[in-house]
Amino acid sequence: MDAVEAEFKERFTLEGSNVKIFSGNAHPRLAYDICRYLNLPLGESYAGFFKNGETRVKIEETVRGKDVYIVQPVCGRVNDSLVELLLMIDAAARASAKNVTAIIPYYGYAKQEKKTSGREPIAAKLFANIYTVAGANRIITVDLHAAAIQGFFDIPVDNLAFAPIFHDYYMEKLEGQDVAVVSPDAGGVARAKAFADAMKASLSIIFKRRNRPDHAEAIEFVGDVKGKTVLIIDDMISTGGTMIEAARLLKKQGACRIYACATHPLLAGNAIRDIDNSDIEEVAVADTVPIPIEARRGKFKCLPAAQLISEAIRRVHYNLSVSMLFDWRKKYEANSD
Ligand code: R5P
Repeated sequence: MDAVEAEFKERFTLEGSNVKIFSGNAHPRLAYDICRYLNLPLGESYAGFFKNGETRVKIEETVRGKDVYIVQPVCGRVNDSLVELLLMIDAAARASAKNVTAIIPYYGYAKQEKKTSGREPIAAKLFANIYTVAGANRIITVDLHAAAIQGFFDIPVDNLAFAPIFHDYYMEKLEGQDVAVVSPDAGGVARAKAFADAMKASLSIIFKRRNRPDHAEAIEFVGDVKGKTVLIIDDMISTGGTMIEAARLLKKQGACRIYACATHPLLAGNAIRDIDNSDIEEVAVADTVPIPIEARRGKFKCLPAAQLISEAIRRVHYNLSVSMLFDWRKKYEANSD
């Protein structure tokens, strides 16, 4: 830690403030890491079940007049995580918390943000309504699948970008190599373009098709990766199909080394095994959701999300600019734009 950073953290400390952080059962490790970083104790709470299967939640300490932050990615047993989070928000609001912020590092149901055919729900919008009705005053999340989901809310949403962390990691790791950044589908082009510009790398695009849910097929390619090191960037890995198909196609196109990064490693089904057996050399991910032990042993490189989220909490608390967090050069300036 340099002197500027140390002075910033001392001036804007959360120790002794009215901030209280709680965790549901989806990812307590991340909540602990955030608390450790901010030097705060994790709030006492309980989340479990009644015998009839209903979720039971209790905040075990006073939150009257406090700024409450509840850490819960909507992942794993997705619907249990979701209901726990909603009940914790409701409990904190009813217990007279001053503000209730839901920290949802991975916003579950984000891929259902629009109708792709008739008679489908828009789940991401429905749950945005429900978080607000439950009593959330603010949402902090990381790399929403579609930035437009922010607009589903009428309360502030801080959509934190993990890309600068991937950027720093790869600038060092791939130094001196001829790198092509690749979007594995049309929906990810803006993300990949911004990343390619920051890396001063070229951009290539794959077009994929899904003939049925959870099955990706890479069908077309635009760009040039011959003899290059490629870096595929995506927001999440679910079944791994998108990444594996992209890698297969890039190999055929003459890529020599294939790296991949994605913020949210959902790793559904056989994703870990399939990625371990794929052409991808290494996959960097964030721990916005719990990372299984098998992934930690294989090709996955886990980059921590706690610091980014903690710094966002600090900035929200002190009314400082949150977006400045994504500008590494200005990270420790006390600007409130
Ligand atoms: C899709 O639009 C997303 O950005 C990801 O590409 C997708 O969710 C990955 O899913 P899977 O790993 O199952 O192919």
